[in-house]
Amino acid sequence: LKCTVIIPAAGKGKRMKHHQHKQYIELKGKPILVYTLEAFMRCDAITHIIIVVGQGEVDYCKQEIVQPYSLDKVISVIEGGKERQDSVYEGIKCIPQETDIVLIHDAARPFIQEEHIISTIKEANKSGACVLGVKVKDTIKVVNNEGNIISTPNRDMLWAIQTPQTFKKEIIKEAYEQAIKYKFVATDDAMVVEKYADTTVTIVEGSYGNIKITTQEDLMVANALDL
Ligand code: CTP
Ligand code: MG
Repeated sequence: LKCTVIIPAAGKGKRMKHHQHKQYIELKGKPILVYTLEAFMRCDAITHIIIVVGQGEVDYCKQEIVQPYSLDKVISVIEGGKERQDSVYEGIKCIPQETDIVLIHDAARPFIQEEHIISTIKEANKSGACVLGVKVKDTIKVVNNEGNIISTPNRDMLWAIQTPQTFKKEIIKEAYEQAIKYKFVATDDAMVVEKYADTTVTIVEGSYGNIKITTQEDLMVANALDL
């Protein structure tokens, strides 16, 4: 099974309010993006890595990230687009022909563990499409613009979705091509498959430690966690 991972790293990290884009911020002396890439370097099932970076960041990423850390599974460093979905689509265009399984994993989730990478690959090979997620701990309510509570969905059915989101190659490629054609805006990759493929997306239970580094508080948590 040949597995390619696309790492969208073209965001501006606005909620982080930091002078650098958040994926390049250092934790214990190493950029966040390097931890994320190293997790996939260590995982033998992954054969190719595609990194999608911001406008004008290709050379920076090659010189400061890929070369110094010898990330030799990286086959392409390319520019992304305005929204995450646009960046992922640029990555999809670079998937090598021989790939069977495609993983999409946020640059901003450096704590991903090998066992969870592998479980999504195995599951996607069976179901065609899956996402990593955890059961929500909080009660979630649906609230309207006036601040009135509309409903309280049954917590047993609610999952907080993470990445990797993992797919058979043809399924994700075809679904993304439709989404681009019809300008469908999705908040995650699975949503594109839910909309345009016959495949039912399945869930793989991950861990609460696989946080997405989004705000300053997350940096404090990340520094306290083991890397
Ligand atoms: N991303 C991307 N291209 C974009 C927007 C986001 O590749 N146009 C990537 C980010 O770099 C990140 C992942 O998608 O690794 C998840 O997005 P998010 O956490 O929202 O990161 P940012 O968009 O950078 O942060 P913010 O929304 O606070 O600006
Ligand atoms: Mg964003």
